[in-house]
Amino acid sequence: MVSLARDSSPIVLAMVGLPARGKTSIARKIARYLSWLGHPTRLFNVGNYRRAHLGTAQPHQFFDPDNSEGRQALLGMAMTALDDLLGWLSSGGEVAIYDATNSTRARRNLVTERCQAHGFPVVFIESICNDESIIETNVRETKLRSPDYQGVDPEAALRDFRARIAHYARAYEPLGEPERSYIKIIDVGRQVVLNRIHGYLPARLVPLLMNMHLTPHPIWLTRHGESVFNEKGLLGGDSDLSARGDEYAKNLSVFIRERAGDEHVNVWTSTLRRTIQTARPITQNHVAWRALDEIDAGVCEGMTYEEIRQKMPEVFHARAADKFRYRYPRGESYEDVIQRLDPLIIQLERQRSPVLVIGHQAVLRALYAYLVDRPAPSCPTLPIPLHTVIELTPTAYACEERRFQLAPAVQGGDSSTAHP
Ligand code: F6P
Repeated sequence: MVSLARDSSPIVLAMVGLPARGKTSIARKIARYLSWLGHPTRLFNVGNYRRAHLGTAQPHQFFDPDNSEGRQALLGMAMTALDDLLGWLSSGGEVAIYDATNSTRARRNLVTERCQAHGFPVVFIESICNDESIIETNVRETKLRSPDYQGVDPEAALRDFRARIAHYARAYEPLGEPERSYIKIIDVGRQVVLNRIHGYLPARLVPLLMNMHLTPHPIWLTRHGESVFNEKGLLGGDSDLSARGDEYAKNLSVFIRERAGDEHVNVWTSTLRRTIQTARPITQNHVAWRALDEIDAGVCEGMTYEEIRQKMPEVFHARAADKFRYRYPRGESYEDVIQRLDPLIIQLERQRSPVLVIGHQAVLRALYAYLVDRPAPSCPTLPIPLHTVIELTPTAYACEERRFQLAPAVQGGDSSTAHP
């Protein structure tokens, strides 16, 4: 079995910043991206340790830097989380994200010393944001919904959280230590400062962090309409749409017009005929991405699953045994598909208006796994049926999903059902 070679030296990514600056949202985005790319990644959120060990109802005075009892308790929680993080990295983890404020030089020194004692390099990732409207939205969308303020009147919760921020702000020392390795993100990607960023993995994060933004917009994922090959149960190829596929293309264009209203929609297809034909009733100005082409079934292109089972049983069974890693002879695996989709993910992250992706079963499984944060190895069995639009709307911590079936009036059998 061929597996992708990668640099897997363990590393710690430590967040820095005042409360409500989007640290957790950034940390989750990084964790989702790196896990999807195949790097075992885990998040250690110190707030969760505090809630689990000290309870949720801590008033803002608890966070006052002059409250020595509170300071000791918070330090204890931060160190417990760091111990767990170091233990996880020592037992085979690759990327550990330490999600805490780490807002003073003294704390960053401590974190660095402890990580270095285990031989793990640290890259600090700071989020600075002074835009009051962004902070306010962040507090309302994430903090007021957190267990810390369950059952508390929203206005009282807002006052308390603002007071908590003010306590941290009094002691805050933004990153600036020239000897440290860090990425500083100012105003959600308006400016990104890199200091001593070396190595494959930290560099890979930079495009993701530079293209972040907070403008919510839907992403619609759909397979092309049924193709002539789908009707016959044949894999791959570059066939035209069937009559039902044509009908789906028309239904899709009505759907998109209704959902998007006057908003501009970016329409992305693969370079294969069946996706371009599906886009045609919507626009002539689609962008055709080779990265969106269907998984290359190599020597099995143009065959049915049954033919593969009979003529190449070793291929059929090896793929069934590890569908994620199995690479078709002279073709691709799902793992390969994820790697070629990486630049497309960065483009997708950049978009500020709705995007319609017209793709294929395997590529959409891989994209969907990234967008809704499913473990990459589970993607080969995710259901992405024909004639269905999946609407995804990213939010601060997750992605809302709705599915719409736009089946043509005359039903066909989706003979392109998945390889077991
Ligand atoms: O059958 C349609 C199709 O898009 C094929 O072209 C492709 O090989 C297959 O789906 C991918 O699905 P699976 O990975 O389940 O075989």
